[in-house]
Amino acid sequence: MKPREFRAPGRVNLIGEHTDYNDGFVMPAAIHFATTVKATPRDDRRVVLRSDAFPDVIEFDLDDKHAAPRRKWSDYVQGVAIYLEAKGYRVNGAELHVSSDLPIGSGLSSSAALEVSAGLALSRLSGLQVPPLDLALICQKAENLFVGIRSGIMDQYASTHGRKDHAMLIDCRALTHRLLPLPPRIRLVICNTMVKHELNASEYNKRRADCEAAARAMGVDWLRDATSDQLARTNLEPRIRMRAEHVIFENLRTQSGAQALADHDLAAFGKLMYESHASLRDLYEVSCKELDLMVEIARRQNGIYGARMTGGGFGGCTINLVKEEAVGAFTLAITEGYREGTGITPEIYVCQAVDGAGEII
Ligand code: GLA
Repeated sequence: MKPREFRAPGRVNLIGEHTDYNDGFVMPAAIHFATTVKATPRDDRRVVLRSDAFPDVIEFDLDDKHAAPRRKWSDYVQGVAIYLEAKGYRVNGAELHVSSDLPIGSGLSSSAALEVSAGLALSRLSGLQVPPLDLALICQKAENLFVGIRSGIMDQYASTHGRKDHAMLIDCRALTHRLLPLPPRIRLVICNTMVKHELNASEYNKRRADCEAAARAMGVDWLRDATSDQLARTNLEPRIRMRAEHVIFENLRTQSGAQALADHDLAAFGKLMYESHASLRDLYEVSCKELDLMVEIARRQNGIYGARMTGGGFGGCTINLVKEEAVGAFTLAITEGYREGTGITPEIYVCQAVDGAGEII
């Protein structure tokens, strides 16, 4: 039997970082790098996983009531299967073969793309139509509760709801979004520092705990509801204050950014990107010297509106808004400047915004 193929894109976030789990605003676009799952049904309740990226064949039983994470890539898929079933979607066994051109762990949502593509494959093969928002929430739950990273909804939402040539302003409380057409003759250029600092998961969860502490101290349920006045009035320990200040102003920047895009004011949008980066570096403390260098080199180039780190941080990528005609020179300058500063050759991707996950027919 010919396998069916399901594809889920990664995403790049233009602005609105570490705001999603504070019920705030984010502005990602789904990108043409994606994870693909080739899937054939089985007539039992076993899922057999293979991947181009890893040599092992991993199996799990959908009826295993005591499934525990194995700390492998398969956890993302098994978690999704578990939470599909928990939500009442009964899935059948399947053979899944995963391949991806998304650089793993570089802040472009390789995890969400794996979750969403596997979730689509398992559900569609079982004859189920899971609405995109349900699928996104199930995948987030798998990551939060099975994999153990308390991530927000941005990545899974972007992968399921992306639209060609658009970014999305997502309201992570309402779980709705507004499509924002990307300006013509502008390119989203992603620069990969090629470093991953291993702090990632533990520091991520710590940031989230800091935000919860800040919200409690200010008497709000979520930092989304806190204002700069409240922040000024509340006595907070310095680290918690810095985290809260980042989130409060990043939410404002993201909403102003949507307005700037609508007004075709790319200079204003770019300024917000630089401010976002500085805040992530100095207040939220999730940048690193490689990301900072990448942004500094970018800032000195012609034809660039703005640059910032994108995704969770501690390595990974920057996002740069570059004039189409400047992309060649920009790429060269970043490659040389970054290599000179670090000894590392970066990867640079000129991205298109694409539609969200679906079956490849
Ligand atoms: C990771 C998480 C997202 C989001 C970003 C930071 O990508 O998966 O939910 O919190 O970090 O903005």
